[in-house]
Amino acid sequence: MDNKIINGKEISNQLQTELRQRWENWAQNHPAALLRPPHLVAVLVGNNPASEAYVGNKAKACAFVGFKSTLLHFETDISQADLLSEIEKLNQRADIDGFIVQLPLPAHIDEQQIISAIHPDKDIDGFHPLNLGKIILGKAQFIPATPLGILELLRVAQIETKGKKVVVVGRSNIVGTPISLLLSRNTAVGNSTVTLCHSHTANLKEETLQADILIAAIGRPLFIKADMVKPGAVVIDVGINSVSDVSQKRGFRLVGDVDFEAVFPIASKITPVPGGVGAMTVTALLLNTWAAFMANQGIKI
Ligand code: GUN
Repeated sequence: MDNKIINGKEISNQLQTELRQRWENWAQNHPAALLRPPHLVAVLVGNNPASEAYVGNKAKACAFVGFKSTLLHFETDISQADLLSEIEKLNQRADIDGFIVQLPLPAHIDEQQIISAIHPDKDIDGFHPLNLGKIILGKAQFIPATPLGILELLRVAQIETKGKKVVVVGRSNIVGTPISLLLSRNTAVGNSTVTLCHSHTANLKEETLQADILIAAIGRPLFIKADMVKPGAVVIDVGINSVSDVSQKRGFRLVGDVDFEAVFPIASKITPVPGGVGAMTVTALLLNTWAAFMANQGIKI
């Protein structure tokens, strides 16, 4: 049973261990006087508990691989202009390889303007329009953490993508749209024939039943049912939805966009929630931080 599950937690740990090794090798082979660790900065505005938890996880993962992380925390009422000027300072600092502005931002802040102000070479979230645009050109510099996490899961789990029919359900700017483009490119984890489905897709089930690889990224709990999945398909569940559950001490539990219990017997491989794609995103961010650090050392990876 277990080999059906693509274990994101395990793959994530493996990739972090490899990354730590890469950094340690680098550190050993470079003079201490010139050495500084890869440095990630997280910008947090306000006191959203979920955001605080996310940036906490990022800091922990940085510590594990030996990277430096800094949290810059601003009050909820910081003005757009002040936040833009803080971002400009980060853009200028040579000791910072990359930074993220944790989303969501308070309602008075124009998120798109903030993201567009991040220097594309430091945009390790890959949210800047230039970085998203480079994906279309097949010249990605930073791939956003969730699609990069999916690519890494498929690569490490040795799922063949070449010539396969992939159906992506959900067309968000940072998951569905980029992963559909990435998997259709002529790359090692690519060369798939991709269908991107969304809320206006007619006969969704007809589409999903064609999928050799089905990627669910719609943000609706347990939306993909057994009768929507082709026997033997690989199922990648991007959803993280909290549903109320009185049997749990905290009153809720996390479920994916896929009805895991029902789909498990039909799929050849499936990612769990939690412990699947979600477990990969912080690691993907570290991979981008390493790439930014390498670029600052004059090395393109
Ligand atoms: N909020 C939830 N996920 C993310 C992420 O990957 N990056 C940023 N900046 N904010 C988020």
